[in-house]
Amino acid sequence: MANKEVVVLFGAGSIGQAIVRRVAAGKHLVLADYSLDNANVAAKTLENAGFECSTIKADLGSKEDILAVVAEAVKWGEVKFLINAAGVSPSQAPVSEILRVDMYGTSVLLEEFGNVIAEGGSAIIISSQSGHRLPALPQEQNDALAMSRPEDLLKLDFVQEIDDTLKAYQYSKRCNVLKVAYEATRWGKRGATVNSISPGIIITPLANDELHGPRKDGYLKMIQTSPAGRAGTPDEVGDLAEFLMSSRGRFISGTDILIDGGTTASYWYGDLQYLKATH
Ligand SMILES: NC(=O)c1ccc[n+]([C@@H]2O[C@H](COP(=O)([O-])OP(=O)(O)OC[C@H]3O[C@@H](n4cnc5c(N)ncnc54)[C@H](O)[C@@H]3O)[C@@H](O)[C@H]2O)c1
Repeated sequence: MANKEVVVLFGAGSIGQAIVRRVAAGKHLVLADYSLDNANVAAKTLENAGFECSTIKADLGSKEDILAVVAEAVKWGEVKFLINAAGVSPSQAPVSEILRVDMYGTSVLLEEFGNVIAEGGSAIIISSQSGHRLPALPQEQNDALAMSRPEDLLKLDFVQEIDDTLKAYQYSKRCNVLKVAYEATRWGKRGATVNSISPGIIITPLANDELHGPRKDGYLKMIQTSPAGRAGTPDEVGDLAEFLMSSRGRFISGTDILIDGGTTASYWYGDLQYLKATH
């Protein structure tokens, strides 16, 4: 085993790259993505900026693939940071796929890396403001999402009843936040912290497509009406993640932080309440 500090990034897209640029200098970076092309392109950019990387093709929705990423990571040294910025959105996949990747996969990832994370380590799970648009759930549903074994999550009655992709995404992201709280109790015993970040609209290639696509008017109106009056950038999410993973963030664990320019506040109580009819 090489004797390095290791950073694992699942999902080598825009948000993930912004985070690792801030926390992976001098460490070995493992880029896991189900698109090896995406991982290799990210590795090339990062290597040209002085980072040391290896890549691995892995599907977040597969326990076998997650175990392969754990094996690749520990080969290089001790795992200091884990970032999950992989996920599928409501317009990208059917209900079963969203639940398999975003709900089940993220839960397996937390469970398996919670067994190897280094003392002083930290994880960030990228959730979404979308999970904050779901009303409060009954306590027994919260408990079930937080504490069920990953294998049992998709068998829960109220999860099996989900029949549209937006709900699947929202329940998955709510589950991410609750799992982070549950796992923080386990990760704490290893001296490690784990938190989630729920971004609003962040300009990435995907969001840029929306801004220039057929639904651009609705999308633009939502951004302009939000308290910040603009979308966010991957770098702003990166700055928040850097703080949470730094020595200054050691008293923060098991929590979720919204970074959405006030959009969620406006959705519930402000000018964006008109969205409740559709979201
Ligand atoms: N961009 C936004 O506005 C926004 C807002 C809220 C939440 N998010 C969340 O942020 C995360 C990253 O989004 P992004 O905007 O950086 O997207 P992105 O498309 O730039 O990156 C996502 C990466 O994840 C990979 N990926 C997708 N499914 C995977 C799977 N099953 N296994 C492994 N890799 C997989 C993709 O190949 C891609 O490289 C997602 O979880 C998304 O739900 C994004």
